[in-house]
Amino acid sequence: MEEVIKIEGGRKLHGTVRISGSKNATVALIPAAILAHGPVTICGVPNISDVQSLSVLLQELGVAVIRKGEDILIIDPTEMENRPMTSETVGKLRASYYFMGALLGRYGHVEMKMPGGCYLGPRPIDLHVKGFEALGAQVKYEHGTYIIDAKELIGNKIFLDISSVGATINIMMAAVYAKGRTTIENAAKEPEIIDVATLLNKMGAKIRGVGTNVITIDGVDSLDGCFHEIIPDRIEAATYLVLAAAAADEVVVENIIPQHLESLLSKLNEIGIQMEIGLDHVKVTGRREELKATDIKTLPYPGFATDIQQPLTALLTQAQGQSIVTETIYRERFKHCQELAKMGANINVMSPSAMINGPTPLTGCEVVATDLRCGACLVIAGLLAEGVTTIHEIYHIDRGYDNLDGKLKALGANLWREQVD
Ligand code: EPU
Repeated sequence: MEEVIKIEGGRKLHGTVRISGSKNATVALIPAAILAHGPVTICGVPNISDVQSLSVLLQELGVAVIRKGEDILIIDPTEMENRPMTSETVGKLRASYYFMGALLGRYGHVEMKMPGGCYLGPRPIDLHVKGFEALGAQVKYEHGTYIIDAKELIGNKIFLDISSVGATINIMMAAVYAKGRTTIENAAKEPEIIDVATLLNKMGAKIRGVGTNVITIDGVDSLDGCFHEIIPDRIEAATYLVLAAAAADEVVVENIIPQHLESLLSKLNEIGIQMEIGLDHVKVTGRREELKATDIKTLPYPGFATDIQQPLTALLTQAQGQSIVTETIYRERFKHCQELAKMGANINVMSPSAMINGPTPLTGCEVVATDLRCGACLVIAGLLAEGVTTIHEIYHIDRGYDNLDGKLKALGANLWREQVD
């Protein structure tokens, strides 16, 4: 038996949706918490299966995890033991790899099997390894398991060939206890990195320059527990903005930081979506009769986010003319296009670009959420389509979208879950 989401399309959505805490910040903040010598309280934690998986991993290390109320997580690493991380939970998500940096920083030793996560084409971790080695660690990969050892971590200058989000965060975590100064050059600038550095600094770390491409970390002797509130999820916000642009009369997307979404907001404006931008919300108020095709090139922040190109492609099937989406981060991140084509979209994929010819009506059918943001794309397509869309492999969606069903129903969407053979 498999659980699927069914969506009856064609309804006009209306109302307000509140965005949850950032998934991609949360999945780094939770491993970062084990660097403290006391309890860390994190507020605004989204209710998603990636958080459940990370909680299991924490418990496997002997870390106490208490969920309080709707969105508070208290992580107490006081009784933690550095055990090998080889359970099948490690393979359920990409972010397991943040335990590498955190355990290396704290103990100088890590044993971890290969992390999992969405398949978006090859996702090497050579830059993480390069960073650990520059700090003085020895990294071995044997029988599917990383073994990382360091007698002592010593600050160093590390230039990232690609400004990788994961490598920047992982090196930052490994370096907080290193002797002396670590400098990460060509560091990634995503808001989630700033959030992780904010948590570490509240714990007592000395990290400067986050949000620019040079980050310095001055090693400290000890970190304490603290309280931290997670930033809003800019990718969830983007998903609801695109969804509102596609299928709403008027929708307010609240609890967001509009500056994190500038590249999307300017594209939506270009396509013909009318919006009012507030301090912590964006209201989609209407759209031009005929949406205009546009071109997109994904880039590291503050460029157009790769995670948003998939949901936006669903909307581009409704625009007049040819839109070209070029993927520079993950050249194979186009599986959603095959699924949209099943629904009637006219898309040609010639990696690293997809050509979307619109507008084309979409019709509900059986589709597969091949990865998390493909799932978000198909939800939007399902809301636009005539008839019922059945989305399979929805565990991908549940990894990253807090209360998707509840939020959509509150906007007037008709969707439900069913068990099928
Ligand atoms: N890369 C390397 N070597 C490395 C690390 C990265 O070649 O050691 C390459 C990657 O293959 C990719 C590029 O560098 O081509 C950027 O990858 P990055 O390391 O920045 O990605 P990530 O940290 O693995 C995070 C998000 C992704 C998001 C990317 C890009 C998390 C848990 N994941 O992944 O989010 O697409 O940054 O912004 O934060 C999602 O939310 O659906 C998602 C996949």
